[in-house]
Amino acid sequence: MKKIGCNAILLFLLTITVAEVSANPPPAYEGRGLYVSYCQLCHGLRGKGDGPLAKAMKITPADLTTTVRSRSDTILTKIITGEGRQTITGRDRHNLLSDAMPEWKDLFSPSQIRSLIAYLRFLGNTKYALMGDPKVGMEIYQAYCQVCHGVEGEGDGIMTQLMGMMPMDHTNPNETNRLTNPELVTSILDGKGRFMPAWRGILSQGEVEALVSYIRLLAH
Ligand code: HEC
Ligand code: HEC
Repeated sequence: MKKIGCNAILLFLLTITVAEVSANPPPAYEGRGLYVSYCQLCHGLRGKGDGPLAKAMKITPADLTTTVRSRSDTILTKIITGEGRQTITGRDRHNLLSDAMPEWKDLFSPSQIRSLIAYLRFLGNTKYALMGDPKVGMEIYQAYCQVCHGVEGEGDGIMTQLMGMMPMDHTNPNETNRLTNPELVTSILDGKGRFMPAWRGILSQGEVEALVSYIRLLAH
């Protein structure tokens, strides 16, 4: 009788998680994909302005890790779509940019531009570099972690209701930034407290590093 009860709970869990898996990817995660395809060639993977094409350019690509901080979302949108070469602040016209930065006018949808900006902000704010491939990280997260940490990573997965636990909210940078990359890796490999399982032996070092990258992007 008890066994049937357990199986019923398991089945219930499976249906819920399968139905929930298809959440929208976090904006900074989506933005990173676009950035790798369209921007890193000049601006470099980490946004420092040192991409493989940078040396061939007459005008050095901007170091986005420092410039983006002082730009509003509106200005960044204009810069990316090409309208921002001239911008008006108060009564003055400023020439923000030369023609060396391509215009991406019709290429990106508004939501893709928002995602790109989320990733630019990540590059400008983060203390920690991405250590593994976040694409791999997202797949593993959906398979192993969201049942407790939630589809969106907010720490409200289906298991929390069953077991009365409070997993870390991975979307909150104040929580995730407390831990360095190696500390996150250790927490995932060795577990934490009563309910956060140890994944050593189940996930490889590389897979855990990919997870850490995904968690960093979730928090932006
Ligand atoms: C062909 C090379 C090239 C590519 C590709 C490129 N950029 Fe640029 N970008 C530049 C250069 C060069 C500048 C600096 C222009 C200047 O200072 O006049 C720049 C400047 C910028 C700035 C302005 C920085 C500031 O001053 O605030 C932003 C933002 C930016 N790029 C974002 C992007 C994004 C997002 C992408 C991808 C969608 C991208 N760039 C792709 C070359 C490039
Ligand atoms: C059975 C539920 C459960 C699963 C599955 C789970 N977690 Fe957790 N996780 C928790 C709980 C609960 C905490 C809070 C632990 C504490 O602070 O006592 C936590 C905390 C964490 C922390 C913070 C650790 C720290 O040092 O503060 C990280 C990082 C984390 N989880 C990552 C993951 C990743 C990545 C996965 C998937 C591979 C995962 N978790 C799967 C329940 C879970």
